[in-house]
Amino acid sequence: MRLASLNSQDRLFVLTGAGISAESGLATFRGSGGLWNGHRVEDVATLEAWEANPQLVWRFYSQRRRDALAAQPNAAHKALAEIERKLGDRFYLCTQNVDDLHERAGSHRIHHMHGSLFQSRCTRTNEPFPDQSLYEDPKDFPICKTCHASIRPHIVWFGEIPLDMDAIYRELDRATVLLVVGTSGSVYPAAGFVNIANQRGIRTIYVGPEEPLNTDAFDEIILSTATQALPTLME
Ligand code: OAD
Repeated sequence: MRLASLNSQDRLFVLTGAGISAESGLATFRGSGGLWNGHRVEDVATLEAWEANPQLVWRFYSQRRRDALAAQPNAAHKALAEIERKLGDRFYLCTQNVDDLHERAGSHRIHHMHGSLFQSRCTRTNEPFPDQSLYEDPKDFPICKTCHASIRPHIVWFGEIPLDMDAIYRELDRATVLLVVGTSGSVYPAAGFVNIANQRGIRTIYVGPEEPLNTDAFDEIILSTATQALPTLME
């Protein structure tokens, strides 16, 4: 099943995960042991980790900012931007990724459900602002200039609620096709989008080099890397 058969009534909901940025050189979470400097990602991406050692958490996200700044969008990011140009507002991209490679490839109708690597926020006002700085040295630890509270990454950590789930469910509710790319299906609520799609009886397609944990829920599994599969999906 390919997307060329989409008609003018169809609405495409795309969910992407770390796998779509793998061929841009960004590490996935569960590949290669999912470790960072000997820490499990789950141990630096939680509120508990922040409260115990905010300097360590900023070192982790500074490294990720450095990696993402050095990376370039790949053919899969570009293919999704091209599909959006064709479908216009019948396209919606929900990503679990915090990098900005989709935007740099030309995507506009995009929602970062787990936050954005290049935004930070004051822990008192919770107001996000653009931020590309690296806070690797404890002496550079960022403090709000207005209220002197700590500044944290604008990232949804484990145990926190993903951003704007209402908008996501609204879009899922009117989609006619769900395309999921490069996510292991292990983190909810995103891993459950395919079940919502199934309740509505819409087409579901997964693209990735290995089967995700929720593989049985999909109508079609395309076992391929994102850059191989996505550029040909609309042909
Ligand atoms: P994972 O690391 O769990 O899964 C990455 C998926 O990408 C795997 O299923 C791989 O098979 C697949 N993959 C690898 N290379 C690929 C390629 N070239 N093309 C396509 N797919 C490829 O990452 P996510 O599922 O995105 O959350 O992880 C979900 C969430 O868990 C993340 O957003 C993050 C993490 O902890 C938070 O930080 C809250």
